[in-house]
Amino acid sequence: MKIFVYHTPELTPSDTIPECAIAVDVLRATSTMATVLAAGGEAVQVFSDLNQLIEVSENWPAEKRLRAGERGGGKVAGFDLGNSPLDCTEEVVEGRRLFISTTNGTRALQRIQDAPIVLTAALINREAVVKFLLEKQPETVWIVGSGWEGTFSLEDTVCAGAIAHSLCQQFNASLEELAGNDEMISAIALYSQWQNDLLGLLHKASHGQRLLRLECYEDLKYCSQTDILDILPIQQEPGVLKSYHK
Ligand code: MLT
Repeated sequence: MKIFVYHTPELTPSDTIPECAIAVDVLRATSTMATVLAAGGEAVQVFSDLNQLIEVSENWPAEKRLRAGERGGGKVAGFDLGNSPLDCTEEVVEGRRLFISTTNGTRALQRIQDAPIVLTAALINREAVVKFLLEKQPETVWIVGSGWEGTFSLEDTVCAGAIAHSLCQQFNASLEELAGNDEMISAIALYSQWQNDLLGLLHKASHGQRLLRLECYEDLKYCSQTDILDILPIQQEPGVLKSYHK
């Protein structure tokens, strides 16, 4: 297995696809997706365009759908939800499909949606992702941070490092054996430095600060936890993610 880390979707090569691609948006889209599926959501369907989301979700029974829209960290007017994982309780999401569009996370997923295996990862479901990779052993894996409008995000790269770090340990493999690029090694270095204070890192991250200005402190706290959900969102058809079962 070779693991490649890309800090943003824009940095992924355009002339090749990996066997397995993983989108990461710790703050907060992929944390929300894992939470929705863990709370019994039927599926998560992602859109980059808000109007297209409305159009497609119109064809779904109203009582079986939820529309989530986020731009700039805030909820889009007229949508049921913004992008806070804490709003996605069992009472709200069980048996429903979440139609979601966010600033960066859904764009990252669209960039990788042609890969044969597409997953989403966050810190909260990191070990479920690692378990899957150990079981399937895909030859090439891309871990793609969503970033913020084309720029690097600390929280996505630290999550990529958390995945790669755990894989190296559990494979009993050296960095050189697993690293597909230098970014993978730097992601592990970032995680190694901050693994005992991930909330502290999220507070320093520029998007973390944006969310704090929006009074989303509890979201940062929730998203900074590691391995609390044994759930793996996996793409079933382009843009539609369900929970993986062996
Ligand atoms: C995004 O897609 O950019 C994020 O998930 C933004 C957010 O925190 O809602």
